[in-house]
Amino acid sequence: MTQTIVIFGASGDLTQRKLIPSLYNLYRKGRLEDGIRIVGMAIDPFDDTSFRKHLHEGYEKLVGPIPEPEKWRKFAASIHYQTGSFDSTDDFDKLHQKLHKLEKAGDGRLYYLSTSPQFYEVIASQLGTLDMEVEHHGWRRIVVEKPFGHDRASAQALNKAILSVFDESQVYRIDHYLGKETVQNVLVFRFGNTIFEPVWNRNYIEEVQITVSESIGVGHRAGYYEKSGVLRDMFQNHLLQLLALIAMEPPASLNADAQRNERTKVLYSIRPMTADEVHKNTVRGQYKSYTSEDGVAPHSQTPTYAALRMYVDNWRWQDVPFYLRSGKMMTDKLTEMVIRFRKPPHSFFPHIEGSALTPNTLSICVAPDEGIHLSFETKVPDSILESQSVNMEFHYKPGEIPEAYERLILDALHGDPTLFARADTIDLAWGIIDPILAAWESKNAPPIATYADGTWGPAEGEALLAEDHNEWLYQCGKHGIAVT
Ligand code: BG6
Repeated sequence: MTQTIVIFGASGDLTQRKLIPSLYNLYRKGRLEDGIRIVGMAIDPFDDTSFRKHLHEGYEKLVGPIPEPEKWRKFAASIHYQTGSFDSTDDFDKLHQKLHKLEKAGDGRLYYLSTSPQFYEVIASQLGTLDMEVEHHGWRRIVVEKPFGHDRASAQALNKAILSVFDESQVYRIDHYLGKETVQNVLVFRFGNTIFEPVWNRNYIEEVQITVSESIGVGHRAGYYEKSGVLRDMFQNHLLQLLALIAMEPPASLNADAQRNERTKVLYSIRPMTADEVHKNTVRGQYKSYTSEDGVAPHSQTPTYAALRMYVDNWRWQDVPFYLRSGKMMTDKLTEMVIRFRKPPHSFFPHIEGSALTPNTLSICVAPDEGIHLSFETKVPDSILESQSVNMEFHYKPGEIPEAYERLILDALHGDPTLFARADTIDLAWGIIDPILAAWESKNAPPIATYADGTWGPAEGEALLAEDHNEWLYQCGKHGIAVT
């Protein structure tokens, strides 16, 4: 028995850039079952041969030279294509027949929605019309790419449409941040050690900061981004999942629901904001050259940057601020979670100008230098008792980190939904984001802040932390700085 992966939207960017390269890596590592096939479907008029060529060219253009070309030839032989319109039941019937010819009874089948989100519902419904979700012999699963909905109501409608065909246990809603190695490392780091968890709470932690910045702009994705903006694109999914991993309680086991329950409980505990609180606790910004990008409206108000101050109302985190920020066209590509610990309650060290104790910080670096930094105080040599902050680092080796999609595709093939979002989690996440969007779009909203391209965002983003006598911190990427 083997498996088939059916990719809808197979001629698109995601397939070329991420899905096929990840599948090829899995193939090279011997992690895919023998005989596995990939069947692409899209409107473009390819046949098997021209589709394989298209993927080959895409790989070389978007990823780089194809490693082990001999293996690629064998891998490519397992790739097939069916031209079709998602609106046509006849075309789905052709796909169905093609699958029957390729498959044996008992083979599992993974449907991957890699299309524009407007097609998700119709594809699910077409599959339902032909009973293609029914698990007569082999399993059937569906992977749904983000964005999952545009707001809470549309996400609920999408869930309803998908769940009218598939059972929740067959649905895999992807958030590629959860597939990142360094993001999964948060679990091992927190719960595989004894020395961090006892201090992982409001008694010892002053604040948590999560930054996900990108140095690139919207590029060719303005059509999507104009309707989305940074909150829908990055916060509803990635940043809230990172926050959940930092704030969650230890799960009872590695079981998928045990872990998903704990991540979801964090979202339940996030303090809701009224419109006034949104204006007080959030900043939205746009990079200066955004309105000159191709496809962007000249007076667009779409935010490309956001900074939020949030609170998790529970025993562990009450009143500890969680500062979240993300933006495009910023100084650097950086994904970092910083835990800043409280200062010692009393210092008996002599106060010498510039030598005040710096609170300990722990940084979990997702990008660029995948690893962990811990800063702590040490004595300045040959001084009476002056202190200095030093930085201890751990980094994964370059090349050691697989692409997030590798892990996620493999988990979906193995039927492990741990790193995928459940319907209730998505619903809660939209419940947090919707009121912020509504307040930003209201008449009383302060005007959108602007920031120069290639900076850390608008001054208002700095001011948000300055109100709490704080500033944005980052240590990731600062290699070799032993003493700060
Ligand atoms: C995607 C967003 O989900 O994540 C993009 O749609 C963003 O706008 C991307 O660029 C960032 O992902 P990564 O893995 O490069 O941090």
